[in-house]
Amino acid sequence: MKTSRIPKFYERPLGDRLGIVKEFGGLSEEDVTQLQKYGALDFETANRMIENVVSTFALPMGIATNFVINDKPCLVPFAIEEPSVVAAASNAARLSAGFEAKATEPIMIGQIQVVNIKKPKKALKDVLKHKKEILGKANAGDSTLVKFGGGAINIEGKEIKTSRGKMVVFHLLVDVRDAMGANAVNTMCERIAPMIEELTRGIARLRIISNLAVHRTVKAKSVWKKESIGEEWIEAILDAYEFAANDEHRACTHNKGIMNGIDAVVIATGNDFRAVEAGAHAYAARSGKYRPLTKYYKDKNDDLVGEIELPMAVGLVGGATKTHPLAKINVKLLGVKTANELAEIIASVGLAQNFAALKALATEGIQRGHMRLHAKNIAATAGATENKIDEIAAKMVEEKNISVSRAKEIMEGKK
Ligand code: MEV
Repeated sequence: MKTSRIPKFYERPLGDRLGIVKEFGGLSEEDVTQLQKYGALDFETANRMIENVVSTFALPMGIATNFVINDKPCLVPFAIEEPSVVAAASNAARLSAGFEAKATEPIMIGQIQVVNIKKPKKALKDVLKHKKEILGKANAGDSTLVKFGGGAINIEGKEIKTSRGKMVVFHLLVDVRDAMGANAVNTMCERIAPMIEELTRGIARLRIISNLAVHRTVKAKSVWKKESIGEEWIEAILDAYEFAANDEHRACTHNKGIMNGIDAVVIATGNDFRAVEAGAHAYAARSGKYRPLTKYYKDKNDDLVGEIELPMAVGLVGGATKTHPLAKINVKLLGVKTANELAEIIASVGLAQNFAALKALATEGIQRGHMRLHAKNIAATAGATENKIDEIAAKMVEEKNISVSRAKEIMEGKK
C-alpha cells in the first residue's frame, strides 16, 4: 500500500529519495533524469536550504528594463511563471518619468502573547517599568545586529479580550538593519519571554514576528506625463483606480497585479515572498476595509501621479539571499547595498506593474499581450519546431483562434 509515512526520509541519500519518489508517483526514468537537472542550485546547496530535497524547481527569470529609481538606472530580475508581467513592467517604466522611493527604518515587530494574567493593567505597567533591562536582555545575544547599529529598541504592550479571557500582548520593536529579521526577532522574543513571565506572573505562549510590518514600510511614486501616455489614458486609469478604491473584489485583483511584480523580485532575490504577501494584504485591510495599495491622481500639470505604500520585510543578509547562487547574482545586478535600497526597488516595481495592468485593462484589455505568448506555448505543445513556432503563433493570434488543433492544421499547411 502507498504511504507517505517515510521514516528518516531526511537521512536517506539522494538516490534513495529519488527512488522512493519515483515509485510513489509512478515516475519514469526520464522524469527522474529531469529531477536531477539542478540548474543554478546544486543538490548540496538546496539540501542545506530545506528538508527532504529531491530536486529543484526552476522558474523563468526575466529582466525588466527601463527602470530609473531614485535617479539610478536599474535592470530588475523577475522570477515568475506568468507571461506578460516582465514586458508590462518594462513598458510602464519606459513611459514613466522615473521613480522616487523611500523606505522607513527597518523596524520589525515581535509579539509575545501572555495568558493567565489576573491583573492585565498591572502586568503591563510592571513590564514597561523594566523596559531597559528587557531591551538589554533582548540585545545581549545578538552582538552582530547591535554592532551594525540595530537591535531591540522598544517594547510596547496591550490588553486583548478574547473568548478565552483577557490576554496581554507585548510588541518588541527591533531594528533588523539589512536582515529580513524573522530569525533575530524570534530569537529575541524567546529570550525575553521568561523575564516577561516573571514580571507578569503569566504564561508566555506565542513568541513570534508579526508580518504586519507597519514600522517597516516603503513608499514609491512616479509621474506619467500626459505627453507620454495621452490624456485619455490618464482618465481611463483614474476610472480604473476609483473602481478598486471603492470595491473590494476589484481591490483584491488590483493588488494581485501589484504583487505580480513584487513577488517576482522578492523571489529572484531569495527573499520570503509569503511574508511580503501577508504583510501587503493585511496592510491593505488595516482601515477595516480592504483597499488598493496604490493611489492615482492628477498633478497641477494634469500629469498622472501614481503612489504605492506597503510593508516590505526583505533582507540582504542571511537566508537564501546569501546562499542561492542566482539570488546572489541578482543582488549584484541590482547594485543594492542595503535592504532599504532593495525595498525601494521592489515598491517601484509594484507601482509600475499596477500602472501597466490598469493601462492595459482600461484600454485594449490584457488578453492581446497574454495571447501572443500563450499562442507560442500552444504551437510548441502541438509539436511545432523551434523555427516555426513564431509564425504559427502569429497566425493563430491574427485569426483569434488559438488551439492545439488549429496549430496542427497550420503545420499541415491548411489555410
Ligand atoms: C493578472 O495576473 C493581473 C491583473 O489581473 C491585475 C489587475 O487586474 O489589475 C491583470
